[in-house]
Amino acid sequence: MTKYLITGANGLLGSEIAKNDFFKDSIALSHQEFDLTNMGMMEEIIKKYLPEIIINCAAYANVTKAEEEYSKAYEVNAAGVENLCKLAKKYGIFLVHFSTDYVFKGDSSSNYEYLENDKPNPVNLYGKSKLEGEQFVLNNLENYLIIRISFLFGLNGKNFVSSVFNLIKTKANLKIVSDQFGKSTYTEDLIVGLQNLLSMKQKGIFHFTNKGRHNRYEFSVEMLKIMKKYYPLNTNIEPIPADYFPDKTPRPTNSVLSISKYEKITGKKIPTWQNALSRYVKRKVENLSK
Ligand SMILES: NC(=O)c1ccc[n+]([C@@H]2O[C@H](COP(=O)([O-])OP(=O)(O)OC[C@H]3O[C@@H](n4cnc5c(N)ncnc54)[C@H](OP(=O)(O)O)[C@@H]3O)[C@@H](O)[C@H]2O)c1
Repeated sequence: MTKYLITGANGLLGSEIAKNDFFKDSIALSHQEFDLTNMGMMEEIIKKYLPEIIINCAAYANVTKAEEEYSKAYEVNAAGVENLCKLAKKYGIFLVHFSTDYVFKGDSSSNYEYLENDKPNPVNLYGKSKLEGEQFVLNNLENYLIIRISFLFGLNGKNFVSSVFNLIKTKANLKIVSDQFGKSTYTEDLIVGLQNLLSMKQKGIFHFTNKGRHNRYEFSVEMLKIMKKYYPLNTNIEPIPADYFPDKTPRPTNSVLSISKYEKITGKKIPTWQNALSRYVKRKVENLSK
């Protein structure tokens, strides 16, 4: 028997969970090794390892492409999750599933923070497919955790934050969107949050992000400030509206997940995004100098 089965183990989140000591009693499987759309393959593996907990990090995560190929997003994020739910139910497995702030519209002009039980209303088709996945979990399982996160960044894989890190080092001028607000989630802190929730045997929906609302421009300016501790840099970062770019995928203008449920129930405080970003940059610089 294996305690954890980690899906999507080559992705940004899955790869970091897989190498974390807390999850050392695990089997971590890539898309090819454990395909959410292949029921027969998944059942064979589950019968072989009999995991207590499945941590589902697998997803169709291309927000822009999902607008054109919704059926592909649905196949993984909704139908794939339905498959996982059937197996979790059949074999009595606890399911941890990750979802997104994009299940909400995020069009409030005030500083409203979404609560776990607020009514979703997806901002785009990726968000719709993720919401449908959530609904399969809610309607079929009792033993689950759905953790909604937003703007995930971490050391593995390519993401907005790793791209900006490289651009700051190589470009003199950057244009970054400043009219869309949200929160960000550092994988290192999310993994601590996941450990806390599992250790406390929590169930249900939780929001988890670093503390503090920001836009991508503010995030990049803070990153430049931190990076100047390590490199001589003169990069100029210019704030621009989202509609400057050709990508017209609907995105929230103000999607902020409240983390008060997590902090109240666990009694743990989540670090600010500035604190998380400064640890990220330090790690990134250390890794590059190895
Ligand atoms: N990244 C963010 O900003 C963000 C924000 C909010 C929520 N989330 C959620 O957080 C979770 C983790 O996201 P992430 O950023 O780590 O995503 P990621 O880096 O794109 O990783 C997802 C992994 O899932 C795999 N995958 C795709 N289709 C699959 C299938 N049919 N069966 C099994 N595996 C499949 C992918 O493999 P291939 O690449 O080989 O196809 C990839 O390794 C997801 O649920 C995502 O929706 C992410």
